[in-house]
Amino acid sequence: MTEQRLAGGRTHMCGSLRAGDAGGRVVLAGWVARRRDHGGVVFLDLRDREGPVQVVAHPDDAPEAFRAASEAKLESVVLVRGEVRLRPEGTANAGLATGEVEVAAGDIEVLSMSDTPPFPVEDDVQVEEALRLTYRYLDLRRPEMTGVLRLRHRMFGTVRQFFDERGFVDVETPTLTKSTPEGARDFLVPSRLQRGKVYALPQSPQMFKQLLMVAGLDRYYQIVRCMRDEDLRADRHWEFTQLDLEMSFASEEDVFEVLESLFARVWREYLGVEIRVPFPRLTYDESVARFGTDKPDTRFGMELADVTTAFGATAFRAFASAIERGGCVAGFAAPGAGTWSRKELDALVPEATARGATGLVWIALEGGQARSPVLSHISPEEIAAVSEATGAGDGDLVLLVADQPGRVAVALDGLRRLLAARLGLVPERRWDFLWITEFPVFEWSEEEARWVAKHHPFTSPVSDDLEPETARARAYDIVLNGIELGSGSVRIHRPDLQRRVFEVMGITGEEATDKFGHMLEAFRFGVPPHAGFAFGLDRVLMLLSGKENIRDVIAFPKTSSGSELLTGAPSEPSQEQLDQLGMRFGPLGR
Ligand code: AMO
Repeated sequence: MTEQRLAGGRTHMCGSLRAGDAGGRVVLAGWVARRRDHGGVVFLDLRDREGPVQVVAHPDDAPEAFRAASEAKLESVVLVRGEVRLRPEGTANAGLATGEVEVAAGDIEVLSMSDTPPFPVEDDVQVEEALRLTYRYLDLRRPEMTGVLRLRHRMFGTVRQFFDERGFVDVETPTLTKSTPEGARDFLVPSRLQRGKVYALPQSPQMFKQLLMVAGLDRYYQIVRCMRDEDLRADRHWEFTQLDLEMSFASEEDVFEVLESLFARVWREYLGVEIRVPFPRLTYDESVARFGTDKPDTRFGMELADVTTAFGATAFRAFASAIERGGCVAGFAAPGAGTWSRKELDALVPEATARGATGLVWIALEGGQARSPVLSHISPEEIAAVSEATGAGDGDLVLLVADQPGRVAVALDGLRRLLAARLGLVPERRWDFLWITEFPVFEWSEEEARWVAKHHPFTSPVSDDLEPETARARAYDIVLNGIELGSGSVRIHRPDLQRRVFEVMGITGEEATDKFGHMLEAFRFGVPPHAGFAFGLDRVLMLLSGKENIRDVIAFPKTSSGSELLTGAPSEPSQEQLDQLGMRFGPLGR
């Protein structure tokens, strides 16, 4: 740590004292993390954000300090004046950075007495998350959580430095704005001055960053908060932070190079790992065919095989009727799982149906024999063909799903990940970065009964072919170990093409003008070709810190039902606030 002037007359941070400081007089302040009474001598562990140090208060040497130390409750804030000394022979604590020293207290002042905390402020204690979130300031006092926040801070610094060095300009974009088309629901904010109208909180700065390219900024980046009202998951939050960038006159290759260099730097700096660049690339179609998903985890094999043709003339009704209805049969081989018990294998069926499959067929190959609940319906030739296609050998298990291709893909992707984890096939500390390219431009929305943009509507198609089923986009994602880290695309910069894309999605005339008129207008005045990208910084932090939930890398997160337990948000507005906004809640509200 660079030498800094500490506030409050302190000379050192508690956790920074080392053997070299022995003999010096210090002034420290921190929280009482532990108190032990040993034969009339009180030991305090005094903790600040750098870690704890042991303070000793002896009744003979400093009776006042001894009394204060005896009375200080856990988590109270105290100021200590004293002398650093080496711990007596044999009592050093090798597990602690300050473990070779202790501070002999001459004077202890309690600055703030604490009540008994609702849970022990220590790492590795099992505390219900709701309690942690209600008392988040205590939770964040734990070294592990402070560590994550500091990692977050340092990583943001590295990212900013990287973009500064490359001539990107950090520009802030509005928080109260118009709906941005990223596909989630908007959070809306009613306007007081323009009654009956609302602002939307940004799902991303997408339109503004493109307008900055029209403005001639050339290279833009921003660490920016985005808000999306969507179902929460382990790696999804309503308020999350993106690293957002846009580049003029850039193609895919320019964007790829920037991001590969950035991730290589971050992984080198924070994990000491050299990642392989350039990242391998996989088209969307290839990814879905081989892994059933556009976010494949390529750290293990078990690739999918389409075995529809092997069942072209099958006597097995379930497969035959799925094929007749235009579906397919596909599956994969799980190495070594052919020896699992019938009970274990049958338990996979509900795992498949929970992932949307109508059923699951398992075939266990063991000792030259096949075991399967449907053995009487499928022929040895079919089993041989399936084994060949999936690469299954003796001792392996084949899992097959028959349905519409989309459903089959989702179910097999889930089963493949599940089996890999159960079989211990996922290597630790391996980082499989990938580019997924050539996404479809459109996807069919059952909910809206129309084609919608797969990425967002400003994404350039590969060609002028805009057939919704076949059109491919100059869009790309970074996937790491099966998790989507970020997305981007080369943008449309021709107003005619932009209008045609809107038309395929049924956005025409007034609606186009109302939603995107400002973009179409801007595109009349000289637009550089441009491309960009955004990735989730919270997700990157989860991976760097090994956390499994996004809430653990966010200082003040919400619960999965959207409550902020610390403040009690959301809360009911007062009648006065509603009146000012000209709002009234209907029967469902109040
Ligand atoms: P996209 O919508 O794919 O693209 O978002 C980019 C990345 O942001 C992260 N992310 C989230 N992280 C946590 N919680 C969420 N709810 C959440 N939603 C998204 C993911 C995701 O990959 N404007 C475009 C980018 C562009 O085209 O330049 C965009 O926002 O890591």
